[in-house]
Amino acid sequence: MTALLTAEGLHKSYASTPALAGADFTIDAGEVVAVMGPSGSGKSTLLHCLAGLVAPDAGRVRYQGRDLAGLSDAERSALRRGDFGFVFQFGRLVPELSCVENVALPLRLTGTKRKDAEARATEWLARLEVDDVRHHRPGQISGGQGQRVAVARALVGNPRVIFADEPTGALDSLNGERVMELLVQAAKESSAAVVLVTHESRVAAFSDREVVVRDGKARDMAGAV
Ligand SMILES: Nc1ncnc2c1ncn2[C@@H]1O[C@H](COP(=O)(O)OP(=O)(O)O)[C@@H](O)[C@H]1O
Ligand SMILES: [Mg+2]
Repeated sequence: MTALLTAEGLHKSYASTPALAGADFTIDAGEVVAVMGPSGSGKSTLLHCLAGLVAPDAGRVRYQGRDLAGLSDAERSALRRGDFGFVFQFGRLVPELSCVENVALPLRLTGTKRKDAEARATEWLARLEVDDVRHHRPGQISGGQGQRVAVARALVGNPRVIFADEPTGALDSLNGERVMELLVQAAKESSAAVVLVTHESRVAAFSDREVVVRDGKARDMAGAV
């Protein structure tokens, strides 16, 4: 079986600061992998390279066997819209749109009609237990509700990979755990893989496997014990 997403020998520097210094990574379809490591170790840079948001200086990322660097900008954007979903530390919802409009947005961008898009968005909001705030704007709901809306938005397009960068970092532990439970459960049900960046071992407990990033190098904990 070929891995869904692989990275080999990634290097990335910002001016003279090395963010990645030879990072390797592999994830299979439907797998939940926690990317752990101290602040500044290169976790976010690794996630951005894996998702094709940042081009590495050296090394390569392959998705379904295809080298991301070999795709055109348009092909890479289409991949991000169609196959990838994103959840960030602060939901990054569009403040002018209601919650249901925010969740429907990825579907609208790929041409789904408003009524169908909003019906599917409402189903996802219900699964994430926030359909009661569907007509609220992001500024009118709590941080925990906002992250549930962000998870619904990441999943609505039925992505193959969800990239989550410290998705519960701004939440209290009770809310954080519930958001993680809902994220992992929804991903498992739709066989989506999850690249979960976190520095909390409590959050990593929801993963199938842990990868530790230190000084820009990634190490799979599987062979290490
Ligand atoms: N856009 C950027 N511009 C300059 N330096 C950056 C940028 N992004 C990351 N870095 C630097 O790269 C290193 C790794 O950062 P990052 O990948 O954000 O780590 P983490 O997510 O593990 O905290 C840090 O030293 C950080 O300051
Ligand atoms: Mg980070």
